[in-house]
Amino acid sequence: MATEQPTKQKLWGGRFTGKTDPLMHAFNQSLKYDQRMHDADIRGSIAYAKGLTKIGILTPQEESKMVEGLKVVGKEWADGVFVPQEDDEDIHTANERRLAEIIGPLAGKLHTGRSRNDQVATDMRLWLLDNVDDIEQSLKALLNVMVERADNEKEYLMPGYTHLQRGQPIRWAHLLLSHAQSFKCDLERLQQLIPRISVLPLGSGPLAGNSFSIDREFLRKELGFQSISENSMWGVGDRDFIVEFMMWASLTMTHLSRLSEDLIIYSTAEFGFVTLSDAYSTGSSIMPQKKNPDSLELLRGKSGRIFGNMAGFMVTLKGLPSTYNKDLQEDKEPLFDTVDNVSASLKIAEGVIATMNVHSEKMRQALSADALATDLAEYLVRKGVPFRETHHISGRAVALAESRRCQISELSVDDFKKLDARFGDDVMAVFNFETSVEHRASIGGTSLAMVQRQVDILRAALKN
Ligand code: ARG
Repeated sequence: MATEQPTKQKLWGGRFTGKTDPLMHAFNQSLKYDQRMHDADIRGSIAYAKGLTKIGILTPQEESKMVEGLKVVGKEWADGVFVPQEDDEDIHTANERRLAEIIGPLAGKLHTGRSRNDQVATDMRLWLLDNVDDIEQSLKALLNVMVERADNEKEYLMPGYTHLQRGQPIRWAHLLLSHAQSFKCDLERLQQLIPRISVLPLGSGPLAGNSFSIDREFLRKELGFQSISENSMWGVGDRDFIVEFMMWASLTMTHLSRLSEDLIIYSTAEFGFVTLSDAYSTGSSIMPQKKNPDSLELLRGKSGRIFGNMAGFMVTLKGLPSTYNKDLQEDKEPLFDTVDNVSASLKIAEGVIATMNVHSEKMRQALSADALATDLAEYLVRKGVPFRETHHISGRAVALAESRRCQISELSVDDFKKLDARFGDDVMAVFNFETSVEHRASIGGTSLAMVQRQVDILRAALKN
């Protein structure tokens, strides 16, 4: 049996006479995962030490000593030489304990008016802001690869699908950019989260506010936050910024998942539109011929887990009484997991898109004349026939071709004229895939000019 923990060394040990159960000690300890926030924690403490000097709690000499000590602790973490102690409950207690070892009892002044409640909320926000920055760069890199690929491959035509059945001819670039449009919205949404993450909670104390009139505007500037929490109880109890980020991640992963699904289907032998590079595929342990799109399957699969992180933490929050409750410590693992997996997913998606081979001839072969049945109906519309009528006439042409086991493009001009007298000798010109895509020339269509327009707009958005 593990030895029981003496309580007197604990930060909050003063009022305790009994000992902590060893399992409880481990259950409560968050250092193994919240040590990831070591840099944010040190930054927050340095700013707070400077704030304490401004209100006369520290002398300038004490401040320098404290800041130097905090920098030493930070460097130990950065160099991987920080030695956690059994009683370090979390990153905040670990850093304060170590600071005291380095600078002595002066370290005991750092927590004046501060609580781990405003401290942890500050650390989480700082940490997430840094990571949102990285994720934004990865998302832009993915978008960039998609836009460049689309621009280079604008000429490739393929069937566009609804219900996964051939619908109308499209440009391959149009399909790729349809996914890019989702990611562009994700980029905007991510940027819109920042003002709600960038709120300073430090100076809220445990819940009621700071007892020593700490200058919160000074803290805000020091730490680079956009604004200051206007209610101390909200400051320590709010984790909506984490929920919102995980909602964002769930939607972004959904977009990665849908893109992956398209590419998984297109990479089958039956379609053969794309081949993933070896760098993003794996083999089978038994079937030597297999080249599996594991990268895409993992992107699709991880979307479920990211959604689960969000949903799980929402359940944790629901029903909590106001301000800080230890349940909130459960924000970290799902958030860290979400950040890690979304970051990796965006980079993997970028690599897959950048390196896959696209087989334009296979795409072209998949285009059959029946995908032009709408164009045939629209031919008659251009001759003045109401669309509802032309839809039926074109449908009869499809049925006739089906009964003869041929393509509608193999019917003769006479066949068409027999179906409807308004068909002219020029009807066969309908059976041209280029003409078809070029007809879709309104904004948002698959014509060359409209695909180019999307490329230009997305490129401009990425420059900002
Ligand atoms: N490790 C804690 C967390 O992550 C820090 C805050 C602890 N506050 C407290 N009153 N026990 O939430």
